[in-house]
Amino acid sequence: MSDKLKSVNGLDFAIADINLAEAGRHQLRLAEHEMPGLMSLREEFGTSKPLTGARIAGSLHMTVQTAVLIETLIALGAEVRWVSCNIFSTQDEAAAATVVGRTGTVDAPAGVPVFAWKGESLEEYWWATTQLFDFGNGQGPNMILDDGGDATLLVHKGVEFEAAGAVPATTEDDNHEYSIILETLRASLASDPQRFTKIASEIRGVTEETTTGVARLYKLAKEGTLLFPAINVNDAVTKSKFDNKYGIRHSLVDGLNRATDVMLGGKLALVCGYGDVGKGAAETLRGQGARVVVTEVDPICALQAAMDGLQVARIEDVIGQVDIFVTTTGGTDIITVEHLSAMKHNAIVGNVGHFDDEIDMAGLNKVAGVEKIEIKPQVHEWRFPDGHSVIVLSEGRLMNLGNATGHPSFVMSASFTNQVMAQIELWTKPGEYEKQVFVLPKHLDEKVARLHLDALGVKLTTLTKKQAEYLGVDVEGPFKPEHYRY
Ligand code: NAI
Repeated sequence: MSDKLKSVNGLDFAIADINLAEAGRHQLRLAEHEMPGLMSLREEFGTSKPLTGARIAGSLHMTVQTAVLIETLIALGAEVRWVSCNIFSTQDEAAAATVVGRTGTVDAPAGVPVFAWKGESLEEYWWATTQLFDFGNGQGPNMILDDGGDATLLVHKGVEFEAAGAVPATTEDDNHEYSIILETLRASLASDPQRFTKIASEIRGVTEETTTGVARLYKLAKEGTLLFPAINVNDAVTKSKFDNKYGIRHSLVDGLNRATDVMLGGKLALVCGYGDVGKGAAETLRGQGARVVVTEVDPICALQAAMDGLQVARIEDVIGQVDIFVTTTGGTDIITVEHLSAMKHNAIVGNVGHFDDEIDMAGLNKVAGVEKIEIKPQVHEWRFPDGHSVIVLSEGRLMNLGNATGHPSFVMSASFTNQVMAQIELWTKPGEYEKQVFVLPKHLDEKVARLHLDALGVKLTTLTKKQAEYLGVDVEGPFKPEHYRY
């Protein structure tokens, strides 16, 4: 249990400082203005309240933008509990404003139970995640809204171990975080041997925000162990082709600047991975005048990078020349201890892929004689015995959220409009979806885009009936076949 846990007028929460609520509310007001998709859903569904009865367990970076998402879910009738999906990504003023709620009072019906603060330990992170599953009166959630899949993972592992009757013993091969998960589930099993089995049976579905979480869901579906239907929000075009790309184009450089203030122009930057996030990362670094090199394993993405005018190389071939390393792969062991040892003095190393496996931080910790010096929170100099240092951001975790405040509101509005529509879809159509992973239909994707045009002064051309017939589409859309790639 965390010493941050408070209970006020029936409302449980664990945040950094409730006094930040007013500052958070000001930021929320500005964000609402930049989130036309969410605000129009409030208008469209605020009276019919399609999410009435939904008890949503949300695990997604507790930022200002997420606060607007949470208040939209509530405006549509849902009850919500919330945690961050990363130990460094919470904006404490957003968490406080969400707890206090729109009425400005701290009490159970008005406020939201949030369990998140910037700089949690891993133990606190998993403690917070377990707080998602108790809605009071013996009730658990009946929907999950996930980012990266940790809430979904806890339910699946819980059910697996409950069926086996025990949580396996921790072994030497288990990393620190997995041993915490096992410990968390051991405590749960001891207090109620069927807790997650009961919870899972109530859950109508999960909507998943990001590439890495979606990959986990497809794996479960392939193994036949997915416990409830899932909507892959990430692969809505108006999510991954906008948030992952244009979002990182904003927040990567924001994070680099806030963390180090280093001049980017003229520097050599290496972007590992040229998927949606990598494309945005390379573009923004190039926009600052950095020279950008890309690494890729996929020949199609490697060719795209080359045709975009970027050098594509292997990390080993450029390691000693690069000033700034950015990993965007969603993979593991991208920057190893050998790489870190061979970098030039004061090279900056940051990751924007979902988990911290991309940079071997565990290995770095074990280097004999290495010294860790805190420059400021989430910025560390690692000094090697040979005297050279590397600057690691956010301890290898998402640095655009750890060192800055993540993507801006406008692009998150597109992502979260998809999230809300996906929640409505699964909640209002029980039994219509199998235990598989689905994407939202294209007409909804086009709707999300449409909702964001006016704010930018975009004037759409309308097809004539003749033009529509010629193309074989409806005047109102959808305009592209499913296989179109944008
Ligand atoms: P993606 O699948 O489009 O791109 C990843 C790319 O990395 C692929 O092209 C893949 O071929 C490449 N790759 C894989 N292993 C590699 C290796 N060893 N060396 C070089 N390249 C390699 O995925 P996307 O959408 O770009 O997401 C990447 C990660 O970023 C995911 O973990 C995702 O969850 C996360 N993400 C983070 C955001 C943030 O705000 N920081 C926002 C959106 C996504």
